[in-house]
Amino acid sequence: MSIKKNILIISGDGIGPEVTHWGKAVLSEIAKQFNHQFDFEDALMGHVAIEATGNPLTDETLTKAQNADAILFGAVGHAKYDNDPSLKVRPEQGLLKIRKELGLFANLRPILLFDELLEASSIKPEILKGTDILFFRELTGDVYFGKKYRSEDKNTASDLMIYHRYEVERIAHKAFKAAQLRSKKVCSVDKANVLESSRLWRETVQEIAKQYPDVTLEHLFIDNAAMQLIKNPKQFDVVLTANLFGDILTDEASQIAGSMGMLASASVGEGIGFYEPIHGSAHDIAGKNIANPLASILSAALLLEISFGLKKEPLLIIETIKEVLKQGYRTADIADANTEKSNILGTQQMGEKVIETLIKLTNQNTK
Ligand code: IPM
Ligand code: MG
Repeated sequence: MSIKKNILIISGDGIGPEVTHWGKAVLSEIAKQFNHQFDFEDALMGHVAIEATGNPLTDETLTKAQNADAILFGAVGHAKYDNDPSLKVRPEQGLLKIRKELGLFANLRPILLFDELLEASSIKPEILKGTDILFFRELTGDVYFGKKYRSEDKNTASDLMIYHRYEVERIAHKAFKAAQLRSKKVCSVDKANVLESSRLWRETVQEIAKQYPDVTLEHLFIDNAAMQLIKNPKQFDVVLTANLFGDILTDEASQIAGSMGMLASASVGEGIGFYEPIHGSAHDIAGKNIANPLASILSAALLLEISFGLKKEPLLIIETIKEVLKQGYRTADIADANTEKSNILGTQQMGEKVIETLIKLTNQNTK
């Protein structure tokens, strides 16, 4: 069955445009191979939007986002702001606002570990092998959106860590439902020994768990979870956690997959889906043709699966990446001591290799 969809591309800042180019190219190639029609539109967000309009997220971009069938996003951020905390208008505000406006309360971050990359991680292969984790990071609450305060003398500041029961309930449902289709285990991560918002979190998750008697629920404190993730990652299946804890824990978990450059994510909730690599704008390597486009390409696969309900197409993308890695090709971030120098590819060459391999595999499959 062929489908017709509008996809909004927000490539953003830093390495965003370089990597999103390949996520989009893979979507185009999939459309071609499977007779789908994907119409693409572009929109600005982040530093590039501030430069053009003074605003990190304009109404124009928001309207385009609301009218699209799915969004592929790159990254936002710029060194200028990182080094000057006093700047009031900041690229990240665009991302936080679009998450809120589109009701993207659940951020799914699969830790997809390709066996070919076992050596790329700083963790021992035998500890890693077989790891398969799906993080559910809450995305529209917590300190990210709680009231911010700075005293007049500028010497005191606070960010309110706040959760409402309904916010915990709705993401907990998503995590339990996903667990039912996986190994029926949810680990909820909080800091309920110290934080009141975590006690609400834990109490609510326990309550929701009663509706999923086939799923086993366990709780870990964030500090312990951060340690366990490195010590024995295989013990985790679905991990459910709050916005800030999830932000930190998934950067850590990316090392299981070999590199930040390998991790895709899907933000979903009230309607439209928003797909992005978990790596940021990485301005230090922007424009150097060394960024890894695979996280963007894997984000495109998630888009096809979650927003468009396709099965064969996202599987083909994953199979393609596996094949490229099996042939020994790597970007610099996932190369290891055994990688031949000539197999270390730039962003563009890796993108081309993926497209070429995807075409080859499609032809093989249909023969
Ligand atoms: C992420 C990023 C963002 C976040 C930043 C850029 C605001 O780190 O998507 O993980 O903290 O959510
Ligand atoms: Mg992050």
